[in-house]
Amino acid sequence: MNTAIAYLNRFAGEKGWRTVGIKEGFQGLLERQTVTLAPNETWKRARHGGTILGSSRLPDFANHVDDLKKGLEELRITKLAILGGNGSMFAASMLALKDCAVVGVPATIDNDIEGSDESIGFNTAVDTGVRMLDGIRDAAEAMPHVFALEVLGGGRGYLAQAVAEAGGADIVILPHLNLTEVDIVEEIKQAVSARRYAIIVTPEYYPDIEGIIERVSAAVGEAPRFGRIGHAQRGGVPNARDRTLASAFSKLAIEQLELGQSGCVVWRKSESQFLPFDDNASLTRNPL
Ligand code: F6P
Repeated sequence: MNTAIAYLNRFAGEKGWRTVGIKEGFQGLLERQTVTLAPNETWKRARHGGTILGSSRLPDFANHVDDLKKGLEELRITKLAILGGNGSMFAASMLALKDCAVVGVPATIDNDIEGSDESIGFNTAVDTGVRMLDGIRDAAEAMPHVFALEVLGGGRGYLAQAVAEAGGADIVILPHLNLTEVDIVEEIKQAVSARRYAIIVTPEYYPDIEGIIERVSAAVGEAPRFGRIGHAQRGGVPNARDRTLASAFSKLAIEQLELGQSGCVVWRKSESQFLPFDDNASLTRNPL
């Protein structure tokens, strides 16, 4: 968030715009609370985790849309970039319907914004999860058990999936996979017979997950070890990829606002592809 705030401030400043931060998101806008965004200060904080603006949740957002629009008018805010997750993007779309100039910037470790493969903060949260799994693996090699790590990311499972994939977990238990305990036991058995331990990753809010881990561990004759990363995964120094994404998303958001765009979200789609070798082609990239 801090990296994105710094870049939004920088790119808006380059256009000669006056900028202001809204304290604690929509709650702050309701209370007309703003934060001065001194360029040097925001830039200094760009590589720090968290957000200098603070954050809040406003579940009954829909009841406040008119007042929020009024808040923007009173604060003389004519263009608004909203950093956040799916709830914030929904709120952004409602403000846009009220003719506020709003562009959404996906910034959530949950990575659950429709359309975008990435959101700011996600990759750093994946790194944190992978570091935890690496530590668990060291412990497991020294003293084998069935280990399960619950990660943040909400119930949708994108963060759990990414941590499991990058960290080399034996199994990830996601709601849409509809795994039975028998399925899980089968997977764990294979891992345990290969190396005497198994590593499982689970998302938050999976029903009775601790009970499941206990029962499947008992079924393979190993002791369960269940852990949660918790809110440590919501912070930390942003990694290079997140900083790059924050820069790219912020630049695009400011450009779109300048063009008079509203009611949209910046996003990124990328997928692995393959390129056949060609007799005549050199695979060396041209210099930038
Ligand atoms: O929505 C982002 C998120 O970090 C989720 O991954 C997590 O469940 C939640 O926020 C944690 O925040 P809170 O403490 O407010 O539940």
